[in-house]
Amino acid sequence: MEKDKTTAEYSLLVSEIINRHERPLKACVRSYGCQLNFSDGEKLKGMLLKMGYSLTDREEGADLVIFNTCAVRENAEDRVFGNLGYLKHYKEKNPHMIIGLCGCMAAIKKTEDRIRESYRFVDLLFSPSALDKLPKLLYEKLRGSRYSFDTNEYELTPEGLEQQRDSSFKASVPIMFGCNNFCTYCIVPYVRGREHSRRADSIIREVQELADKGYREIMLLGQNVNSYGNDLDDGMDFPTLLEKIDRIDGDFVVRFMSSHPKDAGKRLIDTIVNSSKIGRHLHLPLQSGSDEILSRMNRRYTVEKYMETVDYARSIIPDFSFTTDLIVGFPNESEEDFLRTLDIMKRVRYDNIYSFIYSKRTGTKAALIDDRITDEEKSERMTRLLALQREISTESYKRFIGRKMRVLIDGRGKKPGIMTGKSSEFIIAEVEGDDSMMGRFVDIQVTGSKNWAVTGSVISNNS
Ligand code: SAM
Ligand code: SF4
Ligand code: F3S
Repeated sequence: MEKDKTTAEYSLLVSEIINRHERPLKACVRSYGCQLNFSDGEKLKGMLLKMGYSLTDREEGADLVIFNTCAVRENAEDRVFGNLGYLKHYKEKNPHMIIGLCGCMAAIKKTEDRIRESYRFVDLLFSPSALDKLPKLLYEKLRGSRYSFDTNEYELTPEGLEQQRDSSFKASVPIMFGCNNFCTYCIVPYVRGREHSRRADSIIREVQELADKGYREIMLLGQNVNSYGNDLDDGMDFPTLLEKIDRIDGDFVVRFMSSHPKDAGKRLIDTIVNSSKIGRHLHLPLQSGSDEILSRMNRRYTVEKYMETVDYARSIIPDFSFTTDLIVGFPNESEEDFLRTLDIMKRVRYDNIYSFIYSKRTGTKAALIDDRITDEEKSERMTRLLALQREISTESYKRFIGRKMRVLIDGRGKKPGIMTGKSSEFIIAEVEGDDSMMGRFVDIQVTGSKNWAVTGSVISNNS
C-alpha cells in the first residue's frame, strides 16, 4: 500500500496536474454559518490558491465549487441542499466540474447518507476536522476516483494552513475550536468536537503579523472564548490572553465572540475597560430570560447571575454596550417564560439582538421533547420580540447624539456617497464619504440616530 503523503506533498501533486491543464482552473468556495466557518473558508481558499486554482465568486463556470456548510438550524441545511440542486445544472453543462461539501453538515451521518442516495453528483465530502485533507481528496478525484470522502472526526483541528483572507483590514483569529457545553438545543458540540485552545504564542504571533500588515480589526473567535486555556497546561486564560493582545503594537480594535454568560464575569469586564484596544462592547448570549428555560437548555446560569455581569459593566460605564442571541419557542416555552425574555431585554437595553426561532436538531437532547407550542405561536412571539428590540434600539441609540465616535469604515451604504462603519461599541455609523475611506478609522460627530445605526459627519480621517 502506498504510504500516505503530507498535505504539502498532495498540494504539490495537485498543482502539477492543474499546471498541465490547457487553461487556468477556477474555484468557488461558498461559506455559510458563523465566523469560525468563514475562517475555515479562508483556509480552503488559501489551500486552493496554493494548488494553482484561481478564485471566483460565482458557481457558474467554476471548475470546482465547495460548499462550506452550517448545521445550526434546519433552514441553514435546507438552503445548502437547495443550492446543491442548482450546481447539478451547472455540472450538466460542464461534466468535469468538481463539487465538494464540507463544514458542519459534513460531520452528520445523515448528510452523508443523503448525499450518497440523492446527490450523487457531489464528488468531495469532508468533515471540519479534515479541512487539511482537501489536497489529498482533490488529488484522488483528479486521478479518477468516482468519490473522495473523508468524514472522520480527527482529534485536533489543523493549524498553520495557508489562509486567503476575505478582507484586507478585518481579520478573524480562532483562538479555540469545539465546544464542551452541550446546550440541549445545539448541534455544534456534535459536529465540532471537544474544546481545544490554540497556544497563546501562536495566537499572539498571528495577531502581531496582522497588525504589521495594517489590519484594523481583529476578531478573536471561539464558541465560548471564556473557557480559553482550560485545556492548556500553561495557566493561560482568556483575560490574560486579551491583556497580551492589547499590548501588541499597532492601531487596531480587538473584538471577540462568543462569551458564555456562565464564565463571563467581573474580570472580563475589568480587562475590557482597562484595555486600550478592546471594543467597549460585550456579546453575551442570553438565549432566554426564564430560569426554567435556561435550566432546560443546560445553560448553567440564572438570569440573576447574567444580570450581575451586566450591572457590573454598567457600574463602570453606564451605557456599556451589550448585544445578545435569543431563542424564541424553545420546546414548551410558556407565555410567561417568553415575557421574562422581553423583561430582560428591557432591563439590559441591548444595542442589537440576533434572534432565532428554535429549530429541532436531531441528535440533541431538546429534540426528544414533545413540543406543544405551534409554529404560529412561535412566529407571533418572534414578531413581538423584534418590535420591542426596534423600540429599544431607536431609543437607546439617541444616547450617542452629540458625541464624538471613532469608527472603522467597513462598508458602503445603500445610497451612493454613504459609507458605514462600526464604533468601539459595535454600533453601526453612517457617514457621507467614498471608497477611499474603506478600512480606515475616522472620527465622527454623531448628529442623528435610527433604529439600526447612528448618523454623523466626519471630523477627521486618521488612519
Ligand atoms: N457558542 C455560542 C454561545 O453559546 O453563545 C453560540 C454559537 S451558535 C452557533 C449561535 C446561536 O445560534 C446561539 O447562540 C443560539 O442562539 C442559536 N442556536 C443554536 N442552536 C439553535 C437551534 N437549534 N435553534 C435555534 N437557534 C439556535
Ligand atoms: Fe452551542 Fe451552547 Fe456550545 Fe454555544 S455554548 S456552541 S450554544 S452548545
Ligand atoms: Fe453553523 Fe457550524 Fe458555525 S453549525 S454556526 S457553521 S460551528
